[in-house]
Amino acid sequence: MMKRMLITFFIFASFLSMAQQKDSIQNEAKMQWFKDARLGIFIHWGLYAVNGIDESWSFFNGYISHEDYLKQTEGFTAKKYDPAKWVELIKNSGAKYAVITSKHHDGFALWNTKHGDFNAVKGSAAKRDVLTPFVNELRNNDLKVGIYYSLPDWSYSDYTHFTREIKRYKISEEPKRWDKFLNYYQGQLKEISKNYNPDLFWFDGDWEHTAEEWQAPQLRQMLLDRNPNTIINSRLQGYGDYATPEQGMPITKPKSKYWELCMTMNDSWGFQKNDHNYKTTDQIIGIFADVIGNGGNLLLDIGPKADGTIPDEQINILTELGEWTSKHKEAIYGTISGIPKEHFYGPTTLSKDKKILYLFVKGNPNGEVVVRGLKNKINRIWVVGNGTKLSHKVVGKVFWSHYPGITYINVPDHILDKRMTVLALLLDKPVELYREDGAVIESN
Ligand code: GLC
Repeated sequence: MMKRMLITFFIFASFLSMAQQKDSIQNEAKMQWFKDARLGIFIHWGLYAVNGIDESWSFFNGYISHEDYLKQTEGFTAKKYDPAKWVELIKNSGAKYAVITSKHHDGFALWNTKHGDFNAVKGSAAKRDVLTPFVNELRNNDLKVGIYYSLPDWSYSDYTHFTREIKRYKISEEPKRWDKFLNYYQGQLKEISKNYNPDLFWFDGDWEHTAEEWQAPQLRQMLLDRNPNTIINSRLQGYGDYATPEQGMPITKPKSKYWELCMTMNDSWGFQKNDHNYKTTDQIIGIFADVIGNGGNLLLDIGPKADGTIPDEQINILTELGEWTSKHKEAIYGTISGIPKEHFYGPTTLSKDKKILYLFVKGNPNGEVVVRGLKNKINRIWVVGNGTKLSHKVVGKVFWSHYPGITYINVPDHILDKRMTVLALLLDKPVELYREDGAVIESN
């Protein structure tokens, strides 16, 4: 009896683990393009660009009344909006996907939704759907389509939260009213899913309610039923596919297998005329290298103006970034996270077979670059995007220990990139590192 129970248990357990394995293989396949993409462009475009104020938060936090916030609809003209130009700029930056705010917390939708009139077509000077042409351009240019959608809708009269001070109602007291909101927001998402079949859904604002209240598992299922390969960011109360750190670059390698840092170029998500606090292109490249070296993606934000033009500072950054990413593409796309920083004091990536190690060198290393504890033989070193071969020397290797010594690579000034140089080290086999305490005598 006991034996039979045990056998049944093991058969059951092995089925379970087979199913889990299948799941994780499927998940890996679905996440592959995202993992390889490394760079995406985030777009915050909405009413807030008119006055140049904080997206949605400006009225939620009481810096402007809701009524005055809504007056921005008259200035949202999209008069010079040229989605082909946007996509050209995005593509040239080296990004492989874009994520656009279809609707922020203020509830203003960029597409012609059948759910309500608060959208670019029926409720703004633009009088047209400004989302669809952009999505079409992305598709025509083989870029992946990400749709940002705010779960909270602070302008919708049957949503719970209005401002920081004013809550409209409690779900426990008016469950029917909440149901009405659920129908509304899920209806909009059905539309988005049907119209655009996004490669990625980027949710925001999940903190205002629990997974149960949002009906997060049902929502996830609904989106996956339409497209099993669609990817969902983490802001769905535990029902997403990857981690979403915001602004703060992870200092140590995050534990989650898939992650994406979203970051502004200045201090604002949307266009703010008054915000000139831009990061330099060099700083952005440095952050990008750190992000990919730690195995993540960078989702770099732009905020177009209300007329649809992109601010010059942002165009410049994207263009300069593009020059650098295109020169260094072999070290960026399709690579995986690099080696621990003790071995090289800077970001690194690896080819998928781990036989090419890419070192990202900032500034002028004054003639040489150091790699510590590399057990491999280096077959060849070249400068990425330039091709010059470099020589190297191993120092401090002793015959009585398997300690591999210290590798010094000669780096002449004339091969340096003005922003960040990348060196490729072709190894004899997948990278192997010495991680012990130091050379210990084994025989002499
Ligand atoms: C947020 C904010 C928001 C912004 C977003 C981008 O949490 O609510 O305004 O759009 O993050 O990541």
